[in-house]
Amino acid sequence: MLETQLAHWGILPVVAIESASDASPLAEALSSADLPIAEITLRTDGAIHAITQLTKREQFIVGAGTVHSVEQAKQVADAGVAFVVTPGFNPKTVSWCLQHSLPIFPGVSSPTDLEMALDFGINVVKFFPAEQLGGVNMLKALHGPYSNVRFIPTGGISLTNLREYLSLPSVIACGGSWMARQDWIRKGRFDEIQRVSTQAVQERRQLLAT
Ligand code: 3PG
Repeated sequence: MLETQLAHWGILPVVAIESASDASPLAEALSSADLPIAEITLRTDGAIHAITQLTKREQFIVGAGTVHSVEQAKQVADAGVAFVVTPGFNPKTVSWCLQHSLPIFPGVSSPTDLEMALDFGINVVKFFPAEQLGGVNMLKALHGPYSNVRFIPTGGISLTNLREYLSLPSVIACGGSWMARQDWIRKGRFDEIQRVSTQAVQERRQLLAT
């Protein structure tokens, strides 16, 4: 089950890829860091092509992010993604994904959004933009009335605050672009991606060991 895999990896790299030729080196860098999972955002012309490259790979989990419409959900479903992430809560996109058994982690930013997610039977959601919305304190406050919800906080997370988020029982995984920055991909700095991703994985392992 996808949620089990997400909880297993605990970190979700959010990536913007401009050229499909960068897909394989990206997957290799993340896999070498023992983090074989990515959310590829539909923010670049090359995103769908890159997703198509990545979904061919075995042992690599590919989701699509920044999905704003049913049309885009259909496109990424055809490209073979394992899951969809949306920045906000769009009931049409959510319905389509559920009807087509495509796991979706919709974005929420408030209790009202959470009520909508629960209405759809969804209890794993993206919390976006995490830092700007109050970060760890907001998640702690939401955990009271929504103790059955698990969050993927994303937005403003990096190695400096990763541990604080991952320490919360309501956090299933943390999302972020800090380990696979767009400028590194552009410059072919896959060594840097591997190095920073390895740091993130190690930080989480240290936390789990305590
Ligand atoms: C997203 O698309 O989820 C965010 O842009 C990622 O946020 P970050 O760049 O602050 O990690």
